Amino acid sequence: MAVAVIGTGNIGARVAHRLAQGGVDVTVAASNLGSAQAAAEKIGNGVTASGVQDAIAGADTVVLATWFDTAKQLLADNAQALKGKIVVDPSNNIAPDGDGFKSLNPEGVSAGQQLAKLMPAGARFVKAFGTLGADGLDATQTAEGDKVALYYATDDDAAGAAVADLITKGGWAPVRAGGVDDTARIEVFGDLHQFGGLNGRLLSESEARASLA
Ligand SMILES: NC(=O)c1ccc[n+]([C@@H]2O[C@H](COP(=O)([O-])OP(=O)(O)OC[C@H]3O[C@@H](n4cnc5c(N)ncnc54)[C@H](OP(=O)(O)O)[C@@H]3O)[C@@H](O)[C@H]2O)c1
Repeated sequence: MAVAVIGTGNIGARVAHRLAQGGVDVTVAASNLGSAQAAAEKIGNGVTASGVQDAIAGADTVVLATWFDTAKQLLADNAQALKGKIVVDPSNNIAPDGDGFKSLNPEGVSAGQQLAKLMPAGARFVKAFGTLGADGLDATQTAEGDKVALYYATDDDAAGAAVADLITKGGWAPVRAGGVDDTARIEVFGDLHQFGGLNGRLLSESEARASLA
């Protein structure tokens, strides 16, 4: 499977690194080609760089590792090219607020629910890779030495299975948290997010499954 990671910041660079280390064909894009090339060089592991349009064209799966408003714009700008592709959303829709962050979502609506509604025709939505803080994504094991669980959520079983396979190749343990209407649970203020209800903890697969109930 070929993956385009759009955005090479805290999340995108880590996801690209882990997937490429696991043998996945990864191309990164960013706000401009030079930035993507510099990031790809730093990430290593055979990761290549290109412009956003070329990265999407060459991929089966596109990870939108950008801020929420940029993700919305990328969906609108690349609607035709995203047809038939799996689109992975790690976003939180937040802004700094004093010492912390506040949600920019309308009351009772997750970032995932909003982006799922904006999917171009034929694009297949999966929420993943945003359920931990950036440092958590680097962790290779929990405090007890187990693989770190990564939750994902989707209404599309086949797309979910494909993303679960990527999560596995990246060295994490995939655990489905439900569908699009469950995405709030794995976003930053949710009960299953590392910095929501999990109070910073990294879960093993069995702990993550037990926490779903
Ligand atoms: N940081 C976390 O701990 C964390 C945890 C969970 C979820 N998330 C979510 O993950 C998403 C990404 O967060 P982040 O911390 O990785 O952000 P970030 O470090 O600010 O990186 C954003 C990336 O988006 C790229 N970008 C900006 N405009 C673009 C455009 N028009 N086209 C293509 N790429 C563009 C930037 O490119 P340049 O490099 O060229 O500027 C940059 O690489 C956000 O929705 C955030 O809420 C973050």
